[in-house]
Amino acid sequence: MKGTWATNYKRLSMSGSTVCGITGIVTKGHSNIGELLVMCSRKLTYRGYDSVGVAAVNNNIVTLRKDVGTIDDVNEKLHLSSLPGDRGIAQLRWATYGAPTKVNAQPHFGCSSVFYGAHNGNLHNYFEYRQDLIDTGHIIRSENDGELCVHAVDKYYEETGDMFEAVRMSTKDLKGAFAYTVGRADEPEIYAVKMGSSLVAGVSPIGTIVSSDLPSILPLTNQVVYLDDGEMVVLREESVKVYRVEDGAELDRPIQTSNVDARAAEKGGFPHFMLKEINEQPQVSKDVMGLLQVPEQEKWLKMIEDANRFYLVACGSSYNASIVGTYYFNRLAGVPVIPTIGGQFIPMYGQTLDNNCTTMLVSQSGETKDVLNVLKLIDEENLGRTLGVLNVIGSSLMFGANDYIPMGCGYEVSVPATKTYYSQSIIFAYLAAKLGERNGHIDESEAKQFIETLSNDLPRLTQETIDKTGILAKNLARTLTRERDMYCLGYGFTDGVAREGALKLKEICYSHVEGMYSSEFKHGPLSIVTDAYPVIFTTTTEDSWMVINHINEASCRGGRAIIVGERESNLEPYVENKMDYLEVPKSDVLINPILDVIPLQLLSYFLSVDLGINPDLPRNLSKTLTVD
Ligand code: BG6
Repeated sequence: MKGTWATNYKRLSMSGSTVCGITGIVTKGHSNIGELLVMCSRKLTYRGYDSVGVAAVNNNIVTLRKDVGTIDDVNEKLHLSSLPGDRGIAQLRWATYGAPTKVNAQPHFGCSSVFYGAHNGNLHNYFEYRQDLIDTGHIIRSENDGELCVHAVDKYYEETGDMFEAVRMSTKDLKGAFAYTVGRADEPEIYAVKMGSSLVAGVSPIGTIVSSDLPSILPLTNQVVYLDDGEMVVLREESVKVYRVEDGAELDRPIQTSNVDARAAEKGGFPHFMLKEINEQPQVSKDVMGLLQVPEQEKWLKMIEDANRFYLVACGSSYNASIVGTYYFNRLAGVPVIPTIGGQFIPMYGQTLDNNCTTMLVSQSGETKDVLNVLKLIDEENLGRTLGVLNVIGSSLMFGANDYIPMGCGYEVSVPATKTYYSQSIIFAYLAAKLGERNGHIDESEAKQFIETLSNDLPRLTQETIDKTGILAKNLARTLTRERDMYCLGYGFTDGVAREGALKLKEICYSHVEGMYSSEFKHGPLSIVTDAYPVIFTTTTEDSWMVINHINEASCRGGRAIIVGERESNLEPYVENKMDYLEVPKSDVLINPILDVIPLQLLSYFLSVDLGINPDLPRNLSKTLTVD
């Protein structure tokens, strides 16, 4: 797993460019390349939906069609799927640098339309290199750095007259974390390079494919070729060949059968992926417990036990799950953990690391740049061990970390995380119980009983929670469509849960919802409470006595208390309206934090739908952020 990171790019911050999804296909003489590229790329919508484009090669002529909008909008307008040809490239863009405009959409041409290509990721030397190219006579048409990748190949083809060498050498001009795919109209191959952004290839009965992620490969094949940074591929009708960029040496890379179920990328009859993925959580709890109770756990536990300091590093929902994890490590194992936001870790703790530390890097995609920056620092300066907690097999984190714990969720397509956050909470609860059993912080029977509850009861309790709170959340959502501002508060174990609930409401309802610790609310934010101002309180049965004080502080000033937790008689008097109590089933108090997030997932889902928003593709967001 260790050490296949490309070393030719410098990390750390610089203004980003694009997070996207790229796909290249070479068919065995088929003529419906537009249709194939649209079908496969549609599976990458969660990576970017600001603009879309297809470059189709037919009789050695490239037709390029691209515009602003989602793939379905642009396909309808420009008939991308009816583009004829036997090979081509498609790209879905999530703009960070350069407005989401038609000219900045990808793919791009080189100086002439002979060269065509697209990229994902960001170039750190965009400004200088763009000027160099212009100074040497290149015609740069857009403000998008993906175009520079195509021109770099164009430049070296000029020098070498050889596409393979031109692609290989182009990488030395480009700095940053990226992947790109490129071709020449009059040559049958398509090339692709992986330098810090995700890329995977596949061999299928109709031809070969390369793409940013597995879901877009699966419609054609489950015969997959995994790639490491610093590698390039050449797609031909019949074969995918892998080479080392540094010296052009061919690498023996076996084709592997992916057991990721292609249907996972389908909605399975649900109106949205988010609702489908929420409903997959009972199965996820079984799968992740199966993946945890393996001999490898000994290595993971040792990495934590032997550490003089143990950090958790993550972003977004993974960070909120890491906060829940911190409470489990404290409560069950008495192990101090330092949970930190990925982008904050180096400025906040970079100097406190040494080679006796263990840093757990939590990222469902395994590609979040803020987290990979920390991995690279630790790797380059030998600052201890790294343990990845990840969902995407074949991701950069999987290859870069010393070891990794698989989350076992199957693909999560919807941009807002649900089942992955849930799986992470279970992983932390399990590891903490095992650590506590080993260091005597809890006795063997307590640990055994809790792990049995996680294995045997949690799937049922999760299903009950979905069934029970689905309707409640749907009805409650209807009463909140006018509320653009709320607080979501947690205490103790539900600290991370409240932050996650707030994040979901922000992500897909575009509401300003702050998640914070309920005892802190009175130290300032309480001033916002006036008549019927909604304040959501998440609680466990062991902390409700304390949370009652915090509910009181808000409701006696006219606030509308909405409670998430087990039904407790001491809490009931605080909800004016019966539907303001999102009741989860009775269970072990240590299970409460895992169940309490589900009604908040459902509430945000139904509110988003009521507001006419597509919860799977919230504006301005992306599933995987590979930029600084
Ligand atoms: C954001 C996603 O881009 O990244 C969030 O929109 C996610 O849903 C966050 O929680 C972190 O992603 P990951 O893959 O590192 O867990």
